[in-house]
Amino acid sequence: MKIYVDSADMAEIENGLALGLCDGVTTNPTLIAKTGKSMDAAIKDICSVVDGDVHAEVLSLDAEGIYKEGKEFAKVADNIVVKIPMCHEGLKAVKRFSDEGIKTNVTLIFSTSQAILAAKAGASNVCPFVGRLDDISSPGNELINEIVTVFDNYPTIESEIIVASIRNPLHVVEPALAGAHIFTIPGGVLAQMEKHPLTDIGIAAFLEDAKKFT
Ligand code: G3P
Repeated sequence: MKIYVDSADMAEIENGLALGLCDGVTTNPTLIAKTGKSMDAAIKDICSVVDGDVHAEVLSLDAEGIYKEGKEFAKVADNIVVKIPMCHEGLKAVKRFSDEGIKTNVTLIFSTSQAILAAKAGASNVCPFVGRLDDISSPGNELINEIVTVFDNYPTIESEIIVASIRNPLHVVEPALAGAHIFTIPGGVLAQMEKHPLTDIGIAAFLEDAKKFT
């Protein structure tokens, strides 16, 4: 199992690193925009502290444009993974990057058929969005179950599943039970995962009892 930080915020990323809970980082244009930095500056800052994979998302929607953007990202650091929105032209670019040994993540996956195509095109990662499916009353974890089953059925598929759009701890626990490989988690959800009210009650009781020591 790997845990990534789903953020472009350096404080959140550094917190994940300090906890040993940052095997990599995923970003997207929305997360970069929140930092107030340019895409290049944000990606360089993240790569300066993270040794694991750093996912940088292209904006182009044609195969040639995606390829050029991805090649520029790949110059920033060896640990860049080119993140490409699921689309026909994107799959062409994935194949080209795969032939050159450049890692890719096909993002915005909302169906098993999309995951199959991305994996077969040579994507290192497929990125299903569980929270956004739950938002429209389509259970996100059913998609994870299906993709895990299909990938397990075909051991030649090397793509790893990154569970994304994680909004609460169950979005980690249920896909973990299904056998997903990687969980990209926002800082707020990481903090929620630490907490249990019985733990807090237990700590308070131990400290209270410790006052009775002779
Ligand atoms: O990694 C993709 C993720 O950041 C999307 O999350 O909450 O915007 O659906 P959300």
